[in-house]
Amino acid sequence: MKYSLGEVYKSLDDDDKRILLAVESGLSGYLYVPVRVIAKKTRIPAKKLNERLDNLVAKRLVSRRLGAEVGYTLTTFGLDVLALDSLVNRGLIQAVGDRVNVGKESDIYEAISPSGSRLALKFYRIGRTSFRQTARLRPYITEREIHTWLDESKLSAQREFKALVELSRLTEYVPKPVGYSRHAVLIEYVEGQELYRTKMLNNPKAFLDGILQVIDVAYNKVGIVHGDLSEYNVIVAYPDEKPVIIDWPQYVYKDYPMALRLLERDVKYIARYFEKTFKVKIDVDEVIKRITTKESVSTS
Ligand SMILES: Nc1ncnc2c1ncn2[C@@H]1O[C@H](COP(=O)(O)OP(=O)(O)O)[C@@H](O)[C@H]1O
Ligand SMILES: [Mg+2]
Repeated sequence: MKYSLGEVYKSLDDDDKRILLAVESGLSGYLYVPVRVIAKKTRIPAKKLNERLDNLVAKRLVSRRLGAEVGYTLTTFGLDVLALDSLVNRGLIQAVGDRVNVGKESDIYEAISPSGSRLALKFYRIGRTSFRQTARLRPYITEREIHTWLDESKLSAQREFKALVELSRLTEYVPKPVGYSRHAVLIEYVEGQELYRTKMLNNPKAFLDGILQVIDVAYNKVGIVHGDLSEYNVIVAYPDEKPVIIDWPQYVYKDYPMALRLLERDVKYIARYFEKTFKVKIDVDEVIKRITTKESVSTS
């Protein structure tokens, strides 16, 4: 039986959450945390603890390894629940809804803030495909592989949050960040449609100018290059058709050796899409030159 994130989250009580947190902290020392370690951390009596653990296994929040010593590890779903719980406890989320999107390296859920506004909750799944591949080829995964997946996902959430904090002070063309926890980042939900699905704009030239403005601000005011910009990471926000640039975790600082190449690629991909789809042409070299020599950027 498959449960939704919101349903499972609501079904948990304080003991369940304490157990999940104990497993999480135990994972710094064990691949599978022995029951006696969980018992010691939670001080929940053995019989009750085992019942609770059975229940958490049934809900797919932890998985069990049998052996000389029975041990438990968190599943991705268990980790999602802990991240969600932390955001709820900090008063940032009132309710969580369905998964609304599956990205290259993330799952996006919708959530509601305490004041009722719509939020996007992005769970990073870095290495998801290679992880699955490994699982297919070998019945086990090493501790190192788990930690790499987790550490990289956590780092991405932290980086995306940080970039959005700095950018959103300077431009309204990025989603406002709300918070992050573990491998999850919580941001404003952008009502609209991805640029790659958009074949008509009222004013494509102004829209393109908006994107170039963000690239300029990121480079000259924050000192970063997006590094994965394309029509897939731009949302056409309703109703005023403003561009919103998303998906920032891979940004690089402008003094990074590859930064200029990435900047060129970002501008080139966007330029190509606008030429192909809207017949709006820009001189990529000219735009790069203007950005890197700190003049203001515009197609007009
Ligand atoms: N703040 C948001 N508001 C609305 N939709 C979003 C938001 N962030 C992401 N999405 C949707 O989820 C998809 C994947 O998100 P993205 O940040 O690009 O992650 P990935 O690295 O997995 O590509 C996007 O293409 C977009 O459709
Ligand atoms: Mg993306």
